[in-house]
Amino acid sequence: MSMFPFKAHFLRRLQQCRHTCWCTPSPAKGFCSRLILGIETSCDDTGAAVLDGKGAILGESLHSQKEVHLRAGGIIPTVAQHLHRENIERVVQQALERSGVEPSQLNAVATTVKPGLALSLGVGLEFSQRFVRQYNKPFIPIHHMEAHALTVRMLHPIAFPFLVLLISGGHSLLAVARGIDDFLLLGYTLDEAPGDMLDKVARRLSLIKHPQCFTLSGGQAIELLAKDGDRLKFSFRTPMGQTHDCCFSFAGLRNQVTMTIMKQEAEEGIEEGTLLPCVNDIAAATQHTVATHLAKRTHRAILFCKANGLLPSSSPTLVLSGGVASNHYIRKALNIIAETTGLCLLCPPAKFCTDNGVMIAWNGVERLREGKGILPPHVDVCYEPKAPLGVDITAEVRAAAIRVPSVRMKIAN
Ligand code: KG4
Ligand code: ZN
Repeated sequence: MSMFPFKAHFLRRLQQCRHTCWCTPSPAKGFCSRLILGIETSCDDTGAAVLDGKGAILGESLHSQKEVHLRAGGIIPTVAQHLHRENIERVVQQALERSGVEPSQLNAVATTVKPGLALSLGVGLEFSQRFVRQYNKPFIPIHHMEAHALTVRMLHPIAFPFLVLLISGGHSLLAVARGIDDFLLLGYTLDEAPGDMLDKVARRLSLIKHPQCFTLSGGQAIELLAKDGDRLKFSFRTPMGQTHDCCFSFAGLRNQVTMTIMKQEAEEGIEEGTLLPCVNDIAAATQHTVATHLAKRTHRAILFCKANGLLPSSSPTLVLSGGVASNHYIRKALNIIAETTGLCLLCPPAKFCTDNGVMIAWNGVERLREGKGILPPHVDVCYEPKAPLGVDITAEVRAAAIRVPSVRMKIAN
């Protein structure tokens, strides 16, 4: 049984109505002097940060569970929950101490409540609801993917609308961001997310046994090894070549890679669980195919947006974020597409692409500014492990069946 009663309908109604008393800035106090605490526990990072109303980071703290999950060979939800419980109080306290802000001085608390691992989301939500009740503060429930999409606005003065490609361990989506809570969903992954796929390939390659990789996430390990690899030694088919939409698929590619690994093991007389001599080449070919797949779908999304006037004609922007967006090879691939189509590519630094408390606090700042989704402390909120982002127009994108011209993907490592 879940820790919280499920009252999604009630929550949605509450989020729709504006609680004037909780969201109108007092005339004496400008937005800049507002102080927001952000809390993130949707997956395997316990993060907290305090931001002011302009987005200045006053204090932050992050506890990563990566090493534990790497050793276990994947995220075990009960272990993640236990670690969040063990660390959340200290992480929040540390962020507050570093900022020099007392809980009583905060104007609101923003916390990820969807989507994510139920057991992980529950810890952050339970902690936050206790906290806002204790200090009588407004509560802002946050959509994790909305936060990834908006982080860029903390760093660059970029106006809506813009196109965003979010790629992480749990997600892969293309959307037009038209406002802080207004997204058009152009494509999403039909099976696995790219980060998840890279993590699984890294595990199958036993990269944890590689002296350079044992502390790295699967995606980071693949990127590092690919630098010394020859991608042309192996050739993988780019997924969904015959489907002219903007959705993604990574499970079939993982299968291709696994088959190749098995073939190499058989040829070289190496047992599963032992490092192959050709790991660098496999990593390079895998990374290249992931980058090409992401680039092709994004290219189609840009053409769809242009055909339908969804982006401004002057300085249209493509934003790339999420953990996998830290990958420089993938960034370069997307930059080729942006340059080909006349878009400007913006990508937050790696530290803000992966999960953290800052992005959640920033989403709180954006919502507080617009007075959207701010709840009084006593309102019961429920987490939602599955929560799509925005209005799904993938059917319209598929119906348009846009052919993408071929682009030469010559990417230096
Ligand atoms: O956004 P994130 O921190 O958490 C989720 O919301 O999933 O993303 C984590 C994912 C992991 O799957 C990890 O392997 C991947 O991002 N990742 C990378 C890189 N750094 C992290 N993938 C490719 N290249 C990287 N440099
Ligand atoms: Zn994330």
